[in-house]
Amino acid sequence: MSILLTNIKELLQVREPNFLKVSGSEMKKLPTIKNAWLLIKNEKIADYGSMDELPDINADETIDTSGKIVMPTWCDSHTHIVYAGNREQEFADRINGLSYEEIANRGGGILNSAKTLQETPEDEVYLQSAERLEEIMKLGTGAVEIKSGYGLTEEAELKMLRVIKKLRENYSLPIKSTFLGAHAIPKEYKSKPEVYMKLVINEILPKVAEQKLAEYIDIFCEKGYFSVEDADMLLTAAKKYGLKPKIHVNQFNAIGGVKAAVEHDALSVDHLEVITDEDIEVLKGSKTMPVALPSCSLFLSIPYTPARKILDAELPLALATDFNPGSTPSGNMNLVVSLACIKMKMTPEEAINAATINGAYAMELSDTHGSITRGKMANFIITKEIPSYTFLPYAFGTNSIESVYINGKII
Ligand code: NIG
Ligand code: FE
Repeated sequence: MSILLTNIKELLQVREPNFLKVSGSEMKKLPTIKNAWLLIKNEKIADYGSMDELPDINADETIDTSGKIVMPTWCDSHTHIVYAGNREQEFADRINGLSYEEIANRGGGILNSAKTLQETPEDEVYLQSAERLEEIMKLGTGAVEIKSGYGLTEEAELKMLRVIKKLRENYSLPIKSTFLGAHAIPKEYKSKPEVYMKLVINEILPKVAEQKLAEYIDIFCEKGYFSVEDADMLLTAAKKYGLKPKIHVNQFNAIGGVKAAVEHDALSVDHLEVITDEDIEVLKGSKTMPVALPSCSLFLSIPYTPARKILDAELPLALATDFNPGSTPSGNMNLVVSLACIKMKMTPEEAINAATINGAYAMELSDTHGSITRGKMANFIITKEIPSYTFLPYAFGTNSIESVYINGKII
């Protein structure tokens, strides 16, 4: 099966193979081909070029994309889309004056979602999660990471991870699975959090590894949740099972999580709404990808990750949704890219780089996804007729996507 796209107004993010991430001032550049063609063979990108030099190609299907932009699908490297129920009541409570912290201290927040998840049958969790996955695919996401962390018991954490596994079996986009048993301290362990940490490390983690249910390890390293020492213990244990860290750090407080993560060769450090000069220094010279989650900042009215500070230090940056029932009930990467431009002062080129190739890097997928490159998987977006790629973040709230292809097939 081959598909030829012709008269592409602009083909975005065209890269050579082995280009795995983009950092600092380089992020201002988005390589494109104007008036382009793109050839898909089976599930991969076979070739592309300028319409001025279109070779004689006999494709099974030819699509005229005049006036439309073609680009790689979004790579969303941080989500919690497997969950049960919703938390719209807490949203209303926050409007009425309660803080996210106050709600969590009353047993709401993550513990509220954990209770619902524990009570919901696995098949039902699957159906609710699959609906969200289909929604984000239609919004242009073509690779995604999903975390556990709303189980908080052995049974419920494994249930969540099995749901992620089943999603992976039933959907064609790549799905990376992360074990986040250390997401919040369950009520019954409030006075003895170290006992919960032992349960996560000595009981649940070995089963997750044995059943091959996750490739990454995460922990919410934050005041009132888990300490740097907890993170250090967990990441040390997880390393023995080959689970790489991608961890929640610096959402509300900088307590040293970035340094601990880098020392453990974390693939990414996520949130970073607060970031110290020391964190920046630690990240320099590391392979760890900083990840910003601007729709979480929007929804909670907390500071946005200081992207300029990160990029001006010549560091890379990825953008992801954090789709979850409490702090970010949205999986829309188009909105994330708009917010990065509007609120974080990222240029459209920087934001698109952050949401494609760098997002792929934060899931170890940038050798197969995240750019228009010969041999990579044919995961791409065809936009509606739009004036330029800058229109995408500019027209925030407008759906500019006409169609989405995963592995060369329209969804
Ligand atoms: O990434 N920060 C920790 N976890 C989630 C939110 C969890 C929730 O409120 O359900 C996040 O924002
Ligand atoms: Fe998160």
